[in-house]
Amino acid sequence: MSQRIYFHGETGRCQILIDDSMSQLSACLAGQEIIIITDDNVNRLYNQLFPPARDIIILQSGEGTKTLLTVESIYRQLLCVSADRSTFILGIGGGVVSDITGFVASTFMRGLRFGFVPTTLLAQVDAAIGGKNGVNLNGFKNMIGVVNQPDFVLIDFSFLKTLPAKELANGFSEIIKCAAIASRDLFELLEEESEQALRLDNDLLRRIVGETVRIKTAIVSLDEKDRGQRKKLNFGHTFAHALEKAYRITHGEAVSLGMILAANLSVKKNMLEAAEASRIRKLLQMFGLPVSMKFDRDKIVEPIHQDKKKSGQMIDFVLLRSIGEASVERLRFSEVGEAIDDLCES
Ligand SMILES: NC(=O)c1ccc[n+]([C@@H]2O[C@H](COP(=O)([O-])OP(=O)(O)OC[C@H]3O[C@@H](n4cnc5c(N)ncnc54)[C@H](O)[C@@H]3O)[C@@H](O)[C@H]2O)c1
Ligand SMILES: [Zn+2]
Repeated sequence: MSQRIYFHGETGRCQILIDDSMSQLSACLAGQEIIIITDDNVNRLYNQLFPPARDIIILQSGEGTKTLLTVESIYRQLLCVSADRSTFILGIGGGVVSDITGFVASTFMRGLRFGFVPTTLLAQVDAAIGGKNGVNLNGFKNMIGVVNQPDFVLIDFSFLKTLPAKELANGFSEIIKCAAIASRDLFELLEEESEQALRLDNDLLRRIVGETVRIKTAIVSLDEKDRGQRKKLNFGHTFAHALEKAYRITHGEAVSLGMILAANLSVKKNMLEAAEASRIRKLLQMFGLPVSMKFDRDKIVEPIHQDKKKSGQMIDFVLLRSIGEASVERLRFSEVGEAIDDLCES
């Protein structure tokens, strides 16, 4: 049985259909004329499943496409095919496609209606959920953007069968993050069923993705515009962003290492029991995610310091009180630096 989650935010309403099928898309579209935005990989693999559309805009796959240049070229293509305020924009693809689609649709002619069919696990649990849409500028991630909800997000697990293992791990990293900050039950389910999950068992995915989407939407609905509560979703991310910039590793791998750092720091602050931190480490390993890495501490510490300088020597950091309970703590920068040193030497 598929599940529905309804999100009502300041920036709109969104219906999230979990474990639905592309064949149900016509019910969501209700006869509206659509233009599809996708990328070359997804188009090659799934074009035959796309609904009839006035036009299909195919982007080059990859993070490098998330620029204002791409956005402008899409605006021009929309003009070319005479898109107007009644045109519906459908993004079919991973997080790059949904971020660009949401931004283009929210800004073209001051806003067209739009929806997403996320095709990566990361997009299904994270990028397509919550209403943040945007592009990068000068290599800085998501500098330009809007918060605006799509009309719907249709999650069909059959897309995941063609997803490379690394991309799948990216999704599981964010799923483990959500479990660690907000749901002990989900964490235990992942511990018990990791093999089945990696085999993409459909019933299990429905439970795991359903719960992760519920966690993200619950946090977002408390704080859609990212003023406080939403910071919890950044668990593991401060360190991850610095690591990703300095080394060629995936976002999921970087977040995994960032969660190890944050869990260690939570233990050091006497907030989390050491045994709980070990469980987090073990679970990440079960999903093929890294838990240690040789890195140059100066390449990591300085950028974090630079980034946070505006707020003096203090830094907001998401720590854990237990598995399933996070809190945002204001730490001295030196404490974070020491934890990075420990991880570097471990
Ligand atoms: N808006 C948000 O709240 C939010 C949250 C998290 C991440 N993001 C953004 O999402 C992006 C990352 O998303 P992503 O990990 O989905 O990356 P992605 O969109 O680059 O997709 C990863 C790769 O998988 C391919 N692909 C997509 N679906 C496939 C399928 N079913 N089978 C085979 N290959 C497939 C893509 O072509 C691409 O090469 C980043 O730009 C990040 O900033 C946004
Ligand atoms: Zn992330």
